[in-house]
Amino acid sequence: MWQQLAEARRILKGGGVVGMPTETVYGLAARIGDPQAVKSIFTLKTRPFFDPLIVHIARHAQLAQLAAEVSDAADHLAKHFWPGPLTLVLPRRASINPMISAGLPTVGIRMPSHPLARRLISQVGEPLAAPSANRFGKTSPTTAAHVRREFNDEVFVLDGGSAHVGLESTVLAVEESHGAVKLHILRPGIVTAEQVREIFSDWHQPVTVSTGIDRRSPGHTNQHYVPDIPLILYHSDAVAALEQAVEQLKANGRIKEDRRAELRLNPDPLLAARELYASLRTLGESGAELIVCEVQQWQHGGAWEAIWDRLMRAAEVKIQ
Ligand code: TXA
Ligand code: MG
Repeated sequence: MWQQLAEARRILKGGGVVGMPTETVYGLAARIGDPQAVKSIFTLKTRPFFDPLIVHIARHAQLAQLAAEVSDAADHLAKHFWPGPLTLVLPRRASINPMISAGLPTVGIRMPSHPLARRLISQVGEPLAAPSANRFGKTSPTTAAHVRREFNDEVFVLDGGSAHVGLESTVLAVEESHGAVKLHILRPGIVTAEQVREIFSDWHQPVTVSTGIDRRSPGHTNQHYVPDIPLILYHSDAVAALEQAVEQLKANGRIKEDRRAELRLNPDPLLAARELYASLRTLGESGAELIVCEVQQWQHGGAWEAIWDRLMRAAEVKIQ
């Protein structure tokens, strides 16, 4: 492991990019001060330049080097949820490479809890910009092997084992105006709106926490996290409609036969989140032609919201 860390550090210092383990998903990391390396993240991922990158830090002191101002509320969120799966979108310092924040006046910042990620950032001595280490629109990687396969072994990956959260961080925009704090969840994750509200329950300013798609979330597109074969989501009382949808896929030539694989979600949402992307990949490579997943009535609230957010974007067909 020490050798791998030294290698990752050497590559980053030399202007390259590396696969970095985090507790959410693996990232494709570059030093924020290296414009060529940051650019090559976009090229490797075939990621559009309108989609900003998250900057990863190892110490709280690095927050003030990136954000133009850190409000009391932002500081409170950072102290409570970091290190962990929450990204804060804050006003950015003018010195940050505009490519990282896609020309926006803000920057997304997070301190990962994976010890290898923080050790790497500390050893490099500079925050690391890192999107999820997958090609644009595809399923995020939760193991080092996923990253190697995604980039045909062309990217060095620091192996930190399987990601234990398994879904990307909650992205939270933090704004303050006229003494009121406005928080908006741009991307749901396992840190939920309720958990965020909870830590502000006796705050000295009014605080609102809203959710829902927002123009400030350029990368959270409708077609995202897509597996290699079609995924159909259906409710248990819509089995007839499922069969119609399969026939339709056949008629369209999307599938030849009806070799389907079933995605079964763990009843514990934290475990379902952890296993989700690896299961989608395994089923995608199983020789099946399509994946079907049954939506259960009771699977809502808490971490289920983030799971359904990803599955809805991954699905080719959604049967309500
Ligand atoms: O858990 C995670 O967040 C992982 C790990 C590697 O940290 N990273 C990740 O990065 O999921 P990425 O690039 O795949 O997704 C970042 C999301 C995008 O949807 C992007 O639009 C949003 O965060 N984002 C980043 N900076 C932003 C900003 N300044 N304003 C609004 N949205 C931002
Ligand atoms: Mg991503």
